[in-house]
Amino acid sequence: ERGKTGRSSNVHAAAMEPATAAAACPRLLVSLLLVLSCFVSPELVHGQPDALGFISIDCGIADGPSYPDESTRGLRYVSDAGFVDAGAGANAGINPPYSDRELAARYLTVRHFSGGAARSCYTLRGLSPGGRYLVRSSFYYGNYDALNRLPSFHLYLGVNRWAAVNVTAPDDILIFEAVVVSPADFFQVCLVDIGQGTPFISGLDLRPLRAAMYPEATVNQSLLLLNLRRPAARFALNRYHFWRPASFYKIYRYPFDSYDRIWQSYGDIAAWTNITTTANVDVSKASSFDAPPVVLRSAATPVNGTRLEFSWSPDTSQNNDSSSAAYLLLLYFAELQQLPGNVLRRFDILVDGASWNGSRSYTPKYLSAEVVEQVVVQGSGQHTVSLVATPDAILPPILNAFEIYSLRQMTELATNNGDAKAMMGIRTTYMLKKNWMGDPCAPKAFAWNGLNCSYSSSGPAWITALILSSSLLTGAVDPSFGDLKSLQYLDLSNNSLSGPIPDFLAQMPSLKFLDLSSNKLSGSIPAALVRKRQNGSLVLMFA
Ligand SMILES: *[C@@H]1O[C@H](CO)[C@@H](O)[C@H](O)[C@H]1NC(C)=O
Ligand SMILES: *[C@@H]1O[C@H](CO)[C@@H](O)[C@H](O)[C@H]1NC(C)=O
Ligand SMILES: *[C@@H]1O[C@H](CO)[C@@H](O)[C@H](O)[C@H]1NC(C)=O
Ligand SMILES: *[C@@H]1O[C@H](CO)[C@@H](O)[C@H](O)[C@H]1NC(C)=O
Ligand SMILES: *[C@@H]1O[C@H](CO)[C@@H](O)[C@H](O)[C@H]1NC(C)=O
Ligand SMILES: *[C@@H]1O[C@H](CO)[C@@H](O)[C@H](O)[C@H]1NC(C)=O
Ligand SMILES: *[C@@H]1O[C@H](CO)[C@@H](O)[C@H](O)[C@H]1NC(C)=O
Ligand SMILES: *[C@@H]1O[C@H](CO)[C@@H](O)[C@H](O)[C@H]1NC(C)=O
Ligand SMILES: *[C@@H]1O[C@H](CO)[C@@H](O)[C@H](O)[C@H]1NC(C)=O
Repeated sequence: ERGKTGRSSNVHAAAMEPATAAAACPRLLVSLLLVLSCFVSPELVHGQPDALGFISIDCGIADGPSYPDESTRGLRYVSDAGFVDAGAGANAGINPPYSDRELAARYLTVRHFSGGAARSCYTLRGLSPGGRYLVRSSFYYGNYDALNRLPSFHLYLGVNRWAAVNVTAPDDILIFEAVVVSPADFFQVCLVDIGQGTPFISGLDLRPLRAAMYPEATVNQSLLLLNLRRPAARFALNRYHFWRPASFYKIYRYPFDSYDRIWQSYGDIAAWTNITTTANVDVSKASSFDAPPVVLRSAATPVNGTRLEFSWSPDTSQNNDSSSAAYLLLLYFAELQQLPGNVLRRFDILVDGASWNGSRSYTPKYLSAEVVEQVVVQGSGQHTVSLVATPDAILPPILNAFEIYSLRQMTELATNNGDAKAMMGIRTTYMLKKNWMGDPCAPKAFAWNGLNCSYSSSGPAWITALILSSSLLTGAVDPSFGDLKSLQYLDLSNNSLSGPIPDFLAQMPSLKFLDLSSNKLSGSIPAALVRKRQNGSLVLMFA
């Protein structure tokens, strides 16, 4: 494993996620550092969020204490040891020359999933069911396997496809972000082997968002941050700020954004300049988005002329069928100059030449941020946003920040939460490896071995049969079996289960067949089970 050289240098002048934006407001930084050192506990429970509610995983480092990350001013990163389903995968360090750069530490190691498992998953626990979260995964190949073979694989949000991770150069950093609503108190991110190289991952982050933020994200619809490269920008992430020069103000994230969204520089466009302020920008009017004030204190504006324009086209990594693509566009505005009464800034906001409903002739408010959004549902091809000064305007349009998301329907239905949690409990109790990763029943092609599920088009899947014969189970019969409410068939034969036959087996509402033979169970069969056998509602095998 490579050393954590990235950690020792104090300021990542050329780092991938540099600290240089801090220079803009040293006072803020100092106070934030004080706050951080007070309430970020180094004692993180594996698989659970930290005191900020964040989960920050550096994949591929040895299990051990968390460490403070400098590019985020001390956010603590943990190893992925407690998060990987069935302990799958192996750690590796990236190789020279790709490791000889000032990269944040999490890019220096990966966890890779060779060995043929079709799907490998991370389970993030301790979440609020129905809570909205930002999920971020990052990938830096760096020739970790010394094979110089660039892999392609798929990334899933739970049971629904997220993106195709297509590594096109060894020093490519790929970052995907999504806003999701977690249906349960756990959420899974999976890598799927598509036969084009070994899936791997460098980092995985989860950040809780406030309930009012990004209301377009629901359990049935996720927002995928557009992953489209722009010539002037470093990453493919389409969440931009307009501080200049880009080489200095590369990225704002935590602590400048308390939700640790990555705001990347749009780049130094020659036809544009920026106006900035040192004053505070009030975000209470844009509070549903809680845009970080620092990001909003600089705005792009044309050098000459009356138009500000940008475009995007489909992002093939996340949108393989662009004909049905739908986008959520968020534009952030705040006037940064105190204008005399007779000096007007006013502009129309057009998408593909059409006026934005209700947003014609928009005037940004002085030091008060607003977000203007629209869902653009359109087919394939390029989309263009134009901010065009109205004829009576004296000043050109401005734009302080923007984000573009693709809307993704979460159409694939997962296993019901109760069954899924019971199966994860059983997996943990008996340290089962098998192919037991991600959701037990879904998608069908990745269902766990030894399970039969019942699927419906309108609701979640249920587990109807569980066959764990000859599976080297030891210890007591796990109470989690009792949580499988639709289980009709349970085969635990030919293991080394010990202790009494538990009563809860008689309470399982759907159980019709139970095979406990060839174990080391002691004591007598509970009376309730005997009664069920006697009246013919249960087939019980026990010898
Ligand atoms: C990966 O990207 C390259 C270059 O854009 C493209 O030629 C290739 O088809 C892509 N592979 C996959 C599996 O999408
Ligand atoms: C999500 O979809 C399910 C099934 O179609 C529906 O019952 C539920 O109301 C939807 N929930 C939301 C928040 O849209
Ligand atoms: C702005 O306009 C002036 C005068 O027409 C011209 O000389 C200059 O090159 C223009 N600048 C840009 C960036 O277009
Ligand atoms: C653009 O921003 C930079 C600092 O971020 C500043 O030095 C420069 O003066 C700004 N340009 C204008 C025209 O305000
Ligand atoms: C396109 O994405 C869908 C899911 O969104 C997936 O089922 C399908 O296999 C993908 N097609 C290709 C060619 O990757
Ligand atoms: C445009 O806005 C008007 C007034 O707010 C509203 O009645 C109308 O339904 C909107 N049209 C669309 C297409 O959203
Ligand atoms: C499980 O499903 C398979 C395939 O449908 C079927 O052959 C088998 O009988 C089922 N087993 C149980 C115990 O229900
Ligand atoms: C019982 O389990 C052991 C160990 O897993 C295995 O070797 C043996 O073949 C199994 N016996 C039967 C009858 O399945
Ligand atoms: C059999 O006995 C069990 C336990 O007493 C009871 O719950 C069940 O309803 C009975 N079933 C039949 C078919 O009598």
